Amino acid sequence: MQSRAGQLKREDRTIAFVPTMGFLHEGHLSLMRMGRQRADTLIASIFVNPTQFAPGEDFETYPRDMPRDLDLARTAGVDIVFTPNNQVMYAEGFQTYVNLEELPRGLCGKSRPIFFRGVATVVAKLFNIVQPDIAVFGEKDFQQLAVIRRMVKDLHFGIEIVGGSTVREEDGLAMSSRNAYLNPVQRPAARSLYQALRQSQDMVRGGERRAEAIIAAAERHIASFGAAAIDYIAIVDPDTLEDMAVVDRPARMALAVRVGATRLIDNMALGL
Ligand code: PAJ
Repeated sequence: MQSRAGQLKREDRTIAFVPTMGFLHEGHLSLMRMGRQRADTLIASIFVNPTQFAPGEDFETYPRDMPRDLDLARTAGVDIVFTPNNQVMYAEGFQTYVNLEELPRGLCGKSRPIFFRGVATVVAKLFNIVQPDIAVFGEKDFQQLAVIRRMVKDLHFGIEIVGGSTVREEDGLAMSSRNAYLNPVQRPAARSLYQALRQSQDMVRGGERRAEAIIAAAERHIASFGAAAIDYIAIVDPDTLEDMAVVDRPARMALAVRVGATRLIDNMALGL
């Protein structure tokens, strides 16, 4: 992959890149279509990255379907799908990681302390292999997008990072490979994340500015579904991800909820 990317560079072809863990859905495909429009060659990767899963998380059971993914990638206009294995990405003796100081501390970092180290490390490695001019990431994983933007700045990757908006199911549930874990009984609880975010937007539009009151109402809504256990609900500055007490400027509401054994995340802008 690295020598093929070098060859493309020598031919002056620009490269757009969409990294994924596979089990592709319309969210991934929308990012691929964005990449397709922005460069000569579109490369996607499919790699379930072990270093971003903690022991006891779902690395082994993470859904995988390579033949279907390759078909879908082709229909989205992907030229090359890079599918490395663990031995290639983490060869014997591997010991170099990328750590960010601040951005991984809050939100998902609280319950997943090694997650962003794994993400930043694998994305840095993929960037060095694929050598893209631009890379597309989803806003669905808002903290991840912030971490990648910061890493690219801090380490001078010289890659343009493009954010793609969240693609949702008809009922509002943000598309995710992990939605495959949900059974029909859990679906109303899963949908409550979207409903709570929309309700919060309405509250801000209606004049409510106190983060505490908005978060409390969201908690009440989600908790009314027995199957849902809240991990966090936060209203943060979209760049620093620091908590905001008052929504007196554009803010981002982000939340994580466990529905049965499935951890779901979502976020939305709280405009003024
Ligand atoms: P994965 O969960 O497969 O997601 C790959 C990309 O698709 C990410 O940029 C993610 O934000 C985006 N995405 C997921 N669901 C989306 C949706 N409903 N709408 C729009 N975009 C969506 O995120 C990862 O993989 C990994 O952490 C990775 C970056 C590949 C590093 O291993």
